[in-house]
Amino acid sequence: MAVTVLVGAQFGDEGKGKIIDYLCDKQDLIVRFQGGDNAGHTVVNDAGTFKFHLVPSGIFNKNGECLVGTGTVVNLDVLAEEMQQVEDAGVSTDNLKISGKAHLLMPYHQELDALMESHGGIGTTKRGIGVCYAFKMLRKNLRAEDLLDLDRAHDKMVNYLDVVNKMLVAYGGEAVTIEQADAKLKGWADKFADRIVEPISYIHRYLDQDKNILFEGQLAAMKDIDQGIYPYVTSSCPSGAYAAVTGGFPAKKIDKVIGVAKAFSSAVGAGPFPTEDEDSPQLAIIRGDGTKDDDEFGARTGRSRRLGWLDLPIIRYTNLVNGFDELALCKLDKLDFLESIKVCTGYKLDGKKLDYFPNTDDLERVEPIYEELPGWQTSTTGVRKIDDLPENAKNYIKFIEDQVGAPIHYVGVGPDRDSLAVR
Ligand code: GDP
Ligand code: IMO
Ligand code: MG
Repeated sequence: MAVTVLVGAQFGDEGKGKIIDYLCDKQDLIVRFQGGDNAGHTVVNDAGTFKFHLVPSGIFNKNGECLVGTGTVVNLDVLAEEMQQVEDAGVSTDNLKISGKAHLLMPYHQELDALMESHGGIGTTKRGIGVCYAFKMLRKNLRAEDLLDLDRAHDKMVNYLDVVNKMLVAYGGEAVTIEQADAKLKGWADKFADRIVEPISYIHRYLDQDKNILFEGQLAAMKDIDQGIYPYVTSSCPSGAYAAVTGGFPAKKIDKVIGVAKAFSSAVGAGPFPTEDEDSPQLAIIRGDGTKDDDEFGARTGRSRRLGWLDLPIIRYTNLVNGFDELALCKLDKLDFLESIKVCTGYKLDGKKLDYFPNTDDLERVEPIYEELPGWQTSTTGVRKIDDLPENAKNYIKFIEDQVGAPIHYVGVGPDRDSLAVR
């Protein structure tokens, strides 16, 4: 058995959905362990193309179950919509369960997120994520298990709406009535009550039976609320150890951490991005015009992603925080056309080379140190073994492994499940 955690190694959108989809058939349980519908995890397989916001990307696993875990914040309207899309593609969602301790993301969380962003924000996805996690810490949220007793949920909600409405009105929004909230909860209870599980005994049953469990991270380690580029971060911990914290089991039970990176860098929203190159014609080609599945536009918001060259200090840092046993490097094929490839190997601050990872304000000011590696200028899309990649592509991979100190076991060479070169 193995407990595996999959973590984004950069700023998000590295290709986590694709790698989870590839790995899912070997799993008995796949748990989405944090985040909410700020995610956009793209899966391209025989069933079609999906951009998952809440449904775990392992939903196509025919032999296992999926859990929307305790560390998530869940807008059940979005979940219902996505489950319908999966079912419309002829795939059952009977194996999808929801942790009773997952927090319910209400429409007012989303409204407050949008209102607060309009007063000067960080470019959130406006899905209510930060507000829902803030209310979690204030202890003023309902959790999925509250849907199992609507009278009690009503009493809690009367209390919570007091502070919610004061905030809504202060930001120029409209107060929510208890009748509106009750109606929403009743609709969700009717639809989802049968899927809500007590998560600790549920996960420990799998652990006790030595089953394979895969924890699916959302976003990425650089956007971790504690270890990332605060305040340009999300409001949860995409770092791997959070899978154990929210799963309710000892961290030492994690057998393997897989970091997913892409062969260049991208980010959505504000914040430092040392290798960003807005003027590069090559990166503009990589971005595309949004007509292809793998063009660089946000899978959640449709925003054009900020693009830059591969930043190895970032992956070294996220490796330090997470301890990657294996790396997956996606979108290598996007570099196929380049004559040479810029890679950042370090930073200078005020003319001095840094031997540590700087804080957010200093990261805004660093000067990247680049090396230029030769490209391979041939298509990698059909390659299925890392050993069969063109020599210069293998050199690029080896360079990354040496610089980061973690082995690359998977290399993405196209958007669909099968376009993967493995060790
Ligand atoms: P996630 O949030 O980490 O799951 O990543 P996203 O789905 O937001 O963004 C990754 C994008 O790259 C999607 O459009 C994927 O279809 C695409 N993608 C993933 N891996 C590969 C790859 O190896 N090659 C190509 N060309 N596209 C990929
Ligand atoms: P996946 O899982 C890329 C970014 C937002 C913003 C910051 C906080 O597909 O990699 P939030 O709505 O979470 O409060 O926004 O985080 N962000 C993402 N960027 N991919 C994502 O998810 C993201 N989820 C949030 O742009 O900078
Ligand atoms: Mg994404």
